[in-house]
Amino acid sequence: MAETLLDIKNIESFYGPIMAIRGVSLKVEKGQVVTVLGANGAGKSTLLKTISGIMDPEKGQVVFDGREIQGMEPHKVVSQGIVHVPEGREVFPLLTVDENLSLGAYTRSDKAEVEKDRQMVFEYFPILAERRNQEAGTLSGGQQQMLAIGRGLMLRPKIMLLDEPSLGLSPLLVQEIFAILKRLNKDEGVTMMLVEQNAKVALELADVGYVMEVGRIVMDDTADRLMESEDIKSFYLGHQEEGARGERRWKRKKTWR
Ligand SMILES: Nc1ncnc2c1ncn2[C@@H]1O[C@H](COP(=O)(O)OP(=O)(O)OP(=O)(O)O)[C@@H](O)[C@H]1O
Ligand SMILES: [Mg+2]
Repeated sequence: MAETLLDIKNIESFYGPIMAIRGVSLKVEKGQVVTVLGANGAGKSTLLKTISGIMDPEKGQVVFDGREIQGMEPHKVVSQGIVHVPEGREVFPLLTVDENLSLGAYTRSDKAEVEKDRQMVFEYFPILAERRNQEAGTLSGGQQQMLAIGRGLMLRPKIMLLDEPSLGLSPLLVQEIFAILKRLNKDEGVTMMLVEQNAKVALELADVGYVMEVGRIVMDDTADRLMESEDIKSFYLGHQEEGARGERRWKRKKTWR
């Protein structure tokens, strides 16, 4: 039977007086990839920040592996096995690739296992092995995204929260990174919660999807069914526009439930 790893129950999160998350509930089963789709400002990043403890919800519960973690300090959330790879691939620019990876494992004392995981990261992302002594700030955007994911893996997480890994990358590189995410899920069993505007690649990878609009979940279904849904099709086939950040963006569509 499926085992629920992350159970978010009716959370509300605010920036001052602004309610950015308006009663969101969702579940991630162990071994699943769950995607949360939504346009700019829908609340996707805020949702991940609320899980990882960067923000505290005013209401609701975040239950991880049977334990309530809402309001917990971010470093304690990390120690539960939750890794957050934030939007905009934040790596430490003046540290080398290797040093960035070592920092990812800072909570671990099992040195031999950490080295194994470093080799595993290099196997998935060979370019990082090639550039291991290079300062992270001098990597290309795609390489930095790979490093951000690799650094997250160094914690050997129970779940990875990925905030728009496709952002600002060429379609080819997006395909490459998502193929690696798929292998990490299938072969290493990494559970993932992936927030994305790129519905196509996200739904191809995910088992289950949720759609967020203005702080609420407005649709949820299996990824296969969402891919076939007329709303989703028109949303990402007919209603894309070039966004402020230069990549394909979605126009808001008002007709969803
Ligand atoms: N630091 C902040 N202070 C005030 N309001 C904020 C802050 N960060 C986000 N918001 C607001 O909260 C809402 C949700 O923002 P959030 O960043 O979660 O959206 P998102 O779905 O991640 O969008 P994007 O796809 O553009 O990254 C938006 O209305 C945004 O303006
Ligand atoms: Mg965001």
